[in-house]
Amino acid sequence: MIEVLLLVVLIASVVQYVRIRRTMSFARNLPSVEPCYPIIGNGLLFLGQSDEKRFVNVNTALSHPAKLFKMWIGFVPMICTNDTNMAQKILTHPDCMQKPYFYDFFKLEYGVFSAHYDIWKGQRKALNPTFNQKIINGFIPIFDTCAQNLTKRLMNHKTVQIIPFIQRCTLEMVCATTIGTDLNRQEGADKLSYLIDKIFHFVSRRILSVFIHLEYVYRLTQDYRTEQRIRKEAYKYANEILRDVRARKATETIESNDGDEFRKPQIFIDQLLNHQIGKKFEEMEIIHNVYTMITAGSDTSGNEMGYVSLMLAMHPGLQEKVYREIMTVFPGSSDPIITPEALKQLQYTEMFIKESMRLFPVGPNILRTPIKDVDLDGLIVPKGTFLCISIFNAHRRKEVWGPNADKFDPENFSPERVEGRHPFAYLTFSGGTRNCIGSRYAMFSLKIMSIHLVRNFKLRTNAHIEDLQFKFDAMLRLSTEPEISLERRRTGAKNAEGGELRPLVTS
Ligand code: HEM
Repeated sequence: MIEVLLLVVLIASVVQYVRIRRTMSFARNLPSVEPCYPIIGNGLLFLGQSDEKRFVNVNTALSHPAKLFKMWIGFVPMICTNDTNMAQKILTHPDCMQKPYFYDFFKLEYGVFSAHYDIWKGQRKALNPTFNQKIINGFIPIFDTCAQNLTKRLMNHKTVQIIPFIQRCTLEMVCATTIGTDLNRQEGADKLSYLIDKIFHFVSRRILSVFIHLEYVYRLTQDYRTEQRIRKEAYKYANEILRDVRARKATETIESNDGDEFRKPQIFIDQLLNHQIGKKFEEMEIIHNVYTMITAGSDTSGNEMGYVSLMLAMHPGLQEKVYREIMTVFPGSSDPIITPEALKQLQYTEMFIKESMRLFPVGPNILRTPIKDVDLDGLIVPKGTFLCISIFNAHRRKEVWGPNADKFDPENFSPERVEGRHPFAYLTFSGGTRNCIGSRYAMFSLKIMSIHLVRNFKLRTNAHIEDLQFKFDAMLRLSTEPEISLERRRTGAKNAEGGELRPLVTS
């Protein structure tokens, strides 16, 4: 039986290889990442390597100086770029809004992140207003409470690996704003964050191993069985939360519209269930979009805030500058009153956060696949080709960011420097109509976490940027997280020691 299966896979692979080689003739003159061999392509860069070595190899390959170049994952070809103009062309091309089939591995195909073009188009139009500025402003008290809870949890620690603490905080934020659930009152909450992390890990491994892309081959692997077990556990837990949400909604009385609809936070699921947006979402679309927001919104901001914290710890002088700005906008030792206007005044803090995200974009590479043949600077790229934009490398191009592109310098985001820069030079949240829907949400939550962290602690570390090692993953993840030491500041929360965690959702 196994021999027959292997033969079928082999024949299918050879047929696919010949077909792909033929359709790839359009890219014959494009430079290729080396070393490249028949069948395995650039496979030596990742086969049998540690996750850390894979990251370095793939990333170095993607730093190729050509505007467009090709890379082979086994016999699957990919046209790659880290060029700003080319990134703009791809991300704004109406026929390049589709994501490749790898995104199906997330198994959230009715959610806006992975959805195929036809579903995505209507959903994205309907969902854009659910992230408008007024709605994000309404989330400020939730972000504030979660960030205060984060600092309270950190109070008992002198040195920490901070990312798990922050991930817990961003998961709390996203659950409160997406489904109105206070994770502090939900049993087993810590587990969800761990399970989401694990699912990402298995999906990333599968994306890199073309031989297990075929569903029926993947099903034969141990990874499939483990992933299924983890998914089952995550769905069980998430379904329990959703059941509570529905029960809560069923008992809610319709509140009179007092003309101040943004006084209360506009929870994402309420907007979908109450049909407040211009499209009726089917049951499966609601479920997949809720999961999508929870996964896309927690791990990303959690890791990104981890990089911000590390940069604060590594640059004490710049941290003092952030601290002084925060203390100017929010003076005194009592809890800061956070308003959208006050957040806008934190200009240096914003420059600091953006620079951290430039050097460490949590989505280091993004992929697209044209739905029709497209013309990219005279090269006719056939529909179905995989296109890869290396954001990590685009953010380090010296002709865009200057000779010190690898150095951490928040002045890169001073108004003078931003003014003359290409609009697609900075792609942390991607670009074009399929960019990150949660970018404003993320910026507010990162700023509010920074306010509470920096008011409460001096962050320090012995690690340097050059020491940071990453592992290959769909997300930019550290291989080992350096420890940060936390020295209490006197401006911090007064009741922190052993203080009660605040409820996010008041019943
Ligand atoms: C600092 C934090 C964040 C970063 C750096 C980030 C980055 C990105 C990037 C690069 C993409 C494009 C992915 C691709 O094309 O493959 C994306 C898409 C997306 N992000 Fe974010 N994100 C962040 C936070 C959030 C938050 C807080 C939410 C929601 C609450 C969110 C929801 C989404 C969704 C739904 C998409 C898919 C959009 C679509 O395909 O139309 N993200 N994000």
